Amino acid sequence: MSSEVVKQLQEAVQFSPENVPLRLHLAQVLLQDYEYVQAEEQYRKVLELSPDHTIAQLGLARTFYHQQKYSAAIVVLEQLEHHEPDHFDALLLHCRILVKENSLQSARDIYQHLLQLNPGFRDEALDAQFRLPQQQPTTSYEEDEPTEDPDKVFTLEKPDMNFSDVGGMEREKQEIDLKIIKPLQFPDLYKAYGKKAGGGILLYGPPGCGKTYLAKATAGQIQAEFINVGIHDVLDMWIGNSEKNLHALFELARQRKPCVLFFDEVDALGANRTSMRNSGASHLINQFLAEMDGIAANNENVLIIGATNAPWSLDPAFRRPGRFDRIIFVAPPDTDGRESILKLQLRNKPVSDVDYKALAKATTGYSGADLKAIVDLAVEDKLLEALQKGIPQPISQKELVKAIKSHKPTTREWFNTARNYALYSNEAGLYDDVLKYLDIKK
Ligand SMILES: Nc1ncnc2c1ncn2[C@@H]1O[C@H](COP(=O)(O)OP(=O)(O)O)[C@@H](O)[C@H]1O
Ligand SMILES: [Mg+2]
Repeated sequence: MSSEVVKQLQEAVQFSPENVPLRLHLAQVLLQDYEYVQAEEQYRKVLELSPDHTIAQLGLARTFYHQQKYSAAIVVLEQLEHHEPDHFDALLLHCRILVKENSLQSARDIYQHLLQLNPGFRDEALDAQFRLPQQQPTTSYEEDEPTEDPDKVFTLEKPDMNFSDVGGMEREKQEIDLKIIKPLQFPDLYKAYGKKAGGGILLYGPPGCGKTYLAKATAGQIQAEFINVGIHDVLDMWIGNSEKNLHALFELARQRKPCVLFFDEVDALGANRTSMRNSGASHLINQFLAEMDGIAANNENVLIIGATNAPWSLDPAFRRPGRFDRIIFVAPPDTDGRESILKLQLRNKPVSDVDYKALAKATTGYSGADLKAIVDLAVEDKLLEALQKGIPQPISQKELVKAIKSHKPTTREWFNTARNYALYSNEAGLYDDVLKYLDIKK
């Protein structure tokens, strides 16, 4: 847009100052030209002439947005939405501003409203911010957690799964029930026995054995919201602004209760604290600990679960009372556990003549993720065959046994490391469960 056009429009507006469409046109041109101050002035004049003019209200809000006058923008948008609660562009702008202001819960509510208005709507930045529940179509099982979109900082969802979807793990489920679910349901009873409710629990164990899965199922079990935070992402993304964002995250949890606030790879926070002390990250750790203490003080209906493959890297400060003071070892599944995991992984799939007990016996040391991988391999095998022969065939013992042979268990390496810590730096019996699992007497 040339400045010539602007000049002509300005002259025309001077001749007929009350001409709303003309002034509005000038304002739009200025907005497109990034002349936010001037555009603001013109929109204001339009609104003086026609106070409920929706387009002018939206335009004015936009000029505020670009000048980072966020609260002013919100005031205008609220006026607009008062008359037109379903105005898509106004809501979208409103949502973006709330994200900038870190009012994540309200922003998310608006985002959901937007998706209701237009189910096909996608906005990458907002999507990354809220990451609505998505199925993982991935067959990647090598890693503890598949690396996804680097923009991802946390996901927020209401899990549609619960303990019944978790195979085996009876001891772990019971511990979670006693240590965090029951205290939440019967706080007075726990108080009466001098047990404090609140604080967090830490799940640790070899990769792929269901820590994340179990945390999610815990949220589903009590029909709570699940906020999944990858600490690595927090560290990477939030340099500079991280304390504020971490605070916003805990605030979000307090607003969405009942909820499970899950910190994956939490050891990343406590690792190498000395080297972190020199960087900005030590503030982040202190902020994290302070937030946890804050939750402990005002813990109603917020459960904090941390998970780590490397508990020995976690700074002991994290384990003080009110923080991750209850620790649960998530072991590889035993034979019965493996049987039920295989059944779960194969449910809703066409199978025939599968001897689950025999498969369970043949998979000692396999993690839940390993078993999932085996099922995936067998499915791929069968799919290929069906494509070649043109006849779909159910999955049978044969493919599963073949898959077991080609996929080695992944938990042994972890135990090589864990054994040393359990034997030589087992302060306060932290790793007694690991010793028990390895059948080592103290
Ligand atoms: N007990 C289980 N029951 C059913 N599936 C499981 C179980 N444990 C693990 N899995 C499968 O393995 C995958 C990886 O588990 P995950 O929770 O990510 O492991 P971790 O967090 O301990 O590394 C899960 O998404 C799930 O599909
Ligand atoms: Mg995990």
